[in-house]
Amino acid sequence: MNMELKILRTKVHGLFSYLITVTIAVLACVGAAPLLIPDLTKCEIASASAPAGPPVTLYFNCCLPIPDGPMVDFSFEKYKPTTKHIRRAAHTASEQYIAKINKAYELMKALPETDGRSFQAQANLHCSFCNGGYPQRGVSGNIPVQVHFSWLFLPWHRWYLYFHERILGSLIGDPSFSLVFWNWDDQINGGNRVPEMFTRVSTSIYDSNRNPNVQPSTVIPLAATTAANDSETIVTNKNLNNMYQSMVTASTATLFMGGAYRAGDDLTNATVLNAPFGGAIENGVHNGIHFYTGDPRTQLLQDMGNFATASRDPIFYAHHSNIDRLWEVWRYDMPDGERFVHTDPDFLNAEFVFYDETGQMVRVTAKDALDSKKLGVYYKKVRSDDLWINYNPPPITNVSAVPAAIASGVPYVGESPLNGTINIGTNFSAIVKRPAEKKPSHKLEVLNIQGVQALRDEFFAIIAFVNIPGAGPTTGTASAEYLGTFNVIPASGKNRHLMANIKYEIGDNLKRIGIEKEEELVISLVVAGSNTTVTIEGLKIDYEDK
Ligand SMILES: *[C@@H]1O[C@H](CO)[C@@H](O)[C@H](O)[C@H]1NC(C)=O
Ligand SMILES: *[C@@H]1O[C@H](CO)[C@@H](O)[C@H](O)[C@H]1NC(C)=O
Ligand SMILES: *[C@@H]1O[C@H](CO)[C@@H](O)[C@H](O)[C@H]1NC(C)=O
Ligand SMILES: *[C@@H]1O[C@H](CO)[C@@H](O)[C@H](O)[C@H]1NC(C)=O
Ligand SMILES: *[C@@H]1O[C@H](CO)[C@@H](O)[C@H](O)[C@H]1NC(C)=O
Ligand SMILES: *[C@@H]1O[C@H](CO)[C@@H](O)[C@H](O)[C@H]1NC(C)=O
Repeated sequence: MNMELKILRTKVHGLFSYLITVTIAVLACVGAAPLLIPDLTKCEIASASAPAGPPVTLYFNCCLPIPDGPMVDFSFEKYKPTTKHIRRAAHTASEQYIAKINKAYELMKALPETDGRSFQAQANLHCSFCNGGYPQRGVSGNIPVQVHFSWLFLPWHRWYLYFHERILGSLIGDPSFSLVFWNWDDQINGGNRVPEMFTRVSTSIYDSNRNPNVQPSTVIPLAATTAANDSETIVTNKNLNNMYQSMVTASTATLFMGGAYRAGDDLTNATVLNAPFGGAIENGVHNGIHFYTGDPRTQLLQDMGNFATASRDPIFYAHHSNIDRLWEVWRYDMPDGERFVHTDPDFLNAEFVFYDETGQMVRVTAKDALDSKKLGVYYKKVRSDDLWINYNPPPITNVSAVPAAIASGVPYVGESPLNGTINIGTNFSAIVKRPAEKKPSHKLEVLNIQGVQALRDEFFAIIAFVNIPGAGPTTGTASAEYLGTFNVIPASGKNRHLMANIKYEIGDNLKRIGIEKEEELVISLVVAGSNTTVTIEGLKIDYEDK
C-alpha cells in the first residue's frame, strides 16, 4: 500500500493529486481494521535520549506484568459503578481529601511492580504504549502501538484514569474515591497554578522531578512564547485565547480529538498524505502543560516533559483528569450545541488493555469510553470555563496584509507537493490561496500545514498566525490573528522523527479581522523554544465537514 502510494505520488501533480488522495482514502478503507491489543509477551525495551547537551540515553523496562488469570472483557454489567465518582478541582481539595489521596498513592507505591495495580506498573502502561514497548499485533512489520497523536488519545487516557481511580479507591477501601482535576485553564479562581497539594515535599503525591518554577505562586503560561516580563493580564489573555482556539473553534471530532489511526498505521514512518494528525486539545494545551511541568534541569525534561516518565508524577493523573473534563465540556457545553465524536468503526472498536482493582487484565474498547457518566465519572462544573468560552480575541489588524506582503517579497506557497520541502527557519510567512468556491454552510474553513517534519530532540512549538507578515517569536497570541500552537514533546527512538499535519479552523479568525472576503491570506509560522530545523511540504486551505 505504502509503496503504491509513493509511486503514484511521484507521477501526479496539482489537482490530480486530489483525485488520487480520494482514491487512496477509499482503498485504505477497504483493508482497514481497528488497533488490537498487542501480544504482551513481545515487549521491547523503551528508550529516551537527549542529543542536545552531553549525550544521554535512558532505557526503560516498561514491560507490563502478565497476571496468572485470563484477560477479561470489560462490560458495564461487570464493572457497574456502585457510586458516582465526582472529580473536583485540585485547588479546592480539603485537607481530608489530601490525606486520603496521599494514603492511596502511598499504598499503590508500596505494591511490588509485578502487580499490575502498582504505581510502577501503572506508569509503565503509559510508557509502553507511547515509547514503542509493543509492536502491533496482526500486521506485517514491526510497527509500534502508539496511543498519542491520533483519535485514540482521548479514549485511551479516559480508560487509564478510570482504572487508576478504581485501584486507588480499592486500596483505601473507598469505592467513591475520585481523582481531582488540575484546573489549569481557570483564569479567575486560582486554578491556573500548580495545586498546592502536589507541592508538599515528601508526601506520596510529590515528585522532585518538576520544574522549580512550577509553584503555586506562578500563573501557568499555556502559550510557548510567553515572555518572562509578560504581565499577568497578558499571560491570562494568551491563556484564554489558547483555550478558545483549542476548544471553541476546533469544533469537529477530527480537529479536536485527532485523526484516524488504524491497525497497520505507522505513525513513525508516514508520508505527507497520511502523516499523523493529533487533535487541538492534545497538541496545544495538553503538551504545553507536560513541557511546563517537566524539570528543565534534567536533560529529558523528566518526569512530566517526557512520555516515558510522565506518569511517574502523580500530578499526571490530575492533568489528564482536566483533559478528560475538557472533552466533556467540548462535547456538551459549547454555545453551538452538542458536538459529535468519531463514529468510524475503526475508532469505536479499537482495543486497549488495563488492570482493574483486582490486578486482573481487562480488554476495553474505545466505544465504551464515550459516555463518561456510564462509567460513573462526573466532573464538578466550574464557572471559569465561561471566561474562555466567551473570550473575544481582539483583532490587531483590520485590512488584508496581502498587498504589503507581496510588496515585501513574501512568497506564495501551495499545497503539497507543489513547493517541495520548505525549511521554515525561526519564522516564515507565505501567501496562501483560499478555495475559489463559496463555503457550504455545513463546512468549516481549515488551514492544513502539511508534512511538518523535525527531530523531536528538544521541546519546541510551532505557532501559526494569519494576517501578520513578519510574525516572530515575540508576536502576541491573545489576538484574533493567532491560529494555534503545536507543542512538540521531546521523543527518541522510533518516535524521534516527527512527521505530522497540523490543522486549524480559520473562518472565525477571518471574520473577526474582517478579511473573510479576501481571495488570499498571509499565513505565518513561528518556531519557538529551540533552534531545531522544521520543514513543511505545503499549505492548503480547504473546507472540511462540520
Ligand atoms: C518506512 O516506510 C517505507 C515504505 O513503506 C519502508 O520502505 C521503510 O523501510 C520504512 N522505514 C522504516 C525506518 O521503517
Ligand atoms: C519585555 O522584554 C523585551 C526584551 O527582553 C522587550 O522588548 C519588551 O518590550 C518587554 N515587554 C514589556 C511588557 O515590558
Ligand atoms: C485600522 O487600523 C489602523 C491601524 O491600526 C487604524 O489607524 C484605523 O483606524 C483602523 N480602521 C478601522 C476602520 O478600524
Ligand atoms: C512555491 O511555488 C510557486 C509556484 O511555482 C512559486 O511561485 C513560489 O515562489 C514557491 N514558494 C516557495 C516558498 O518556494
Ligand atoms: C521573522 O521575525 C522577525 C522579527 O519579528 C521579522 O522582522 C522578520 O520579518 C520575520 N521573517 C519572516 C520571514 O517572516
Ligand atoms: C538559538 O540560537 C541562538 C544563536 O546561537 C541563541 O542565542 C539562542 O539562545 C538559541 N535559542 C534557543 C531557544 O535555543
